[in-house]
Amino acid sequence: MKLRTRLMISFCIIIFMPVTMALAGLYTLHKVLPSLDITYNNRSFEYLTNLPDYRQLVVDATISVLLILFFTAAILIIWTYSGIISRVKQLNKAAENIRDGNLDFTIDTKGHDEISELSESFEAMRKRLQMNAQEKVDAEQEQRMLISNIAHDLKTPITAIKGYSEGILDGVADTPEKQERYVKTIYNKANEMNTLINELTLYSNIDTNKIPYNFRKLNVRDYFMDCMEELEMDLDNQHVHLTFYNYVDDQTEIIADPEQLSRVIHNIIGNSIKYMRAEEASLIQMRIKDVGDFIQVEIEDNGRGIANKDLPYIFDRFYRADASRNSAAGGSGIGLSIVKKIIEDHGGKIWATSKENVGTVMYFVLRKYQEVPNE
Ligand SMILES: Nc1ncnc2c1ncn2[C@@H]1O[C@H](COP(=O)(O)OP(=O)(O)OP(=O)(O)O)[C@@H](O)[C@H]1O
Ligand SMILES: [Mg+2]
Repeated sequence: MKLRTRLMISFCIIIFMPVTMALAGLYTLHKVLPSLDITYNNRSFEYLTNLPDYRQLVVDATISVLLILFFTAAILIIWTYSGIISRVKQLNKAAENIRDGNLDFTIDTKGHDEISELSESFEAMRKRLQMNAQEKVDAEQEQRMLISNIAHDLKTPITAIKGYSEGILDGVADTPEKQERYVKTIYNKANEMNTLINELTLYSNIDTNKIPYNFRKLNVRDYFMDCMEELEMDLDNQHVHLTFYNYVDDQTEIIADPEQLSRVIHNIIGNSIKYMRAEEASLIQMRIKDVGDFIQVEIEDNGRGIANKDLPYIFDRFYRADASRNSAAGGSGIGLSIVKKIIEDHGGKIWATSKENVGTVMYFVLRKYQEVPNE
């Protein structure tokens, strides 16, 4: 029942009750004293006040009226109290919870009166605040993840730069050709770092939690050839033999961010090097195939492989297969989760097959760019 209705009923009852009582009193007097003239002229009033029972009658009538009024008012107050106060208390408790930052509760909104409407507004506000708080937590988590991704990818070029600089300083690069190769690799690695640091600056400058992709049309053959050339030098120095097979047409194009795609390749090849077998000469093959609307990139190594039980989880963040066996190789288990995110953000898919002590093949597909014919 609406509060307004409640109050109107209370109002009518409080007004009509004394009037009814007064009428009932007069009616009784009229019955008790049939000769009484109710016009209240002086003579009959004098007569009335001189009656011996008159005072007692007035006292009794007043007490009865007061008692009836008291009980009626009490019942009405309890009725109103039960309808409003308990729910106002609930709202007050809710407001205190919200003030203290506790949003994990629900407000009872049943009923159709004004308090229920207020409770509904409160509940809506609580849900909105809870959603905002969750969004904030998610955004912070996403930002932390992106920053740790960059920190992860920065480690590899730094280690390489350190290694090659030491190579030059220690005289390992003892021929001018070798020295030039080392310096070129250092230069490439510094470029990689530069890209990542730019990305990091972008995250802190603009309010974004997304990788700032710079999608471009890329010629598949040219792009992967350049990539191979850049990698070859580095892998050669580490005595890893890299071969490249391109099976797509020279005109085939994709829409991709060249720098992010390069992060993908570096991470996959980085793993192939990290998890190679000491007793085997390391071989890595990269194949680019045409599979209809997509190009398929395959990167195969002859390393230690991944057990079947681990294979479904290697793309999960922080998952490291057989951590004890791989502990010497170091790592935090986020490389492939970065790779997966980038490929999926490109609209592609990634998966792997592997055999223990034989090797691993990483596959990913990217949609080909197709010119939309003009009508
Ligand atoms: N080429 C590979 N050969 C053998 N095992 C691999 C290979 N690639 C990935 N793995 C397995 O998958 C797990 C997850 O790889 P991921 O790159 O995500 O993490 P990580 O290399 O352990 O650490 P991080 O990349 O963060 O330094 C690795 O711990 C490893 O066990
Ligand atoms: Mg890795």
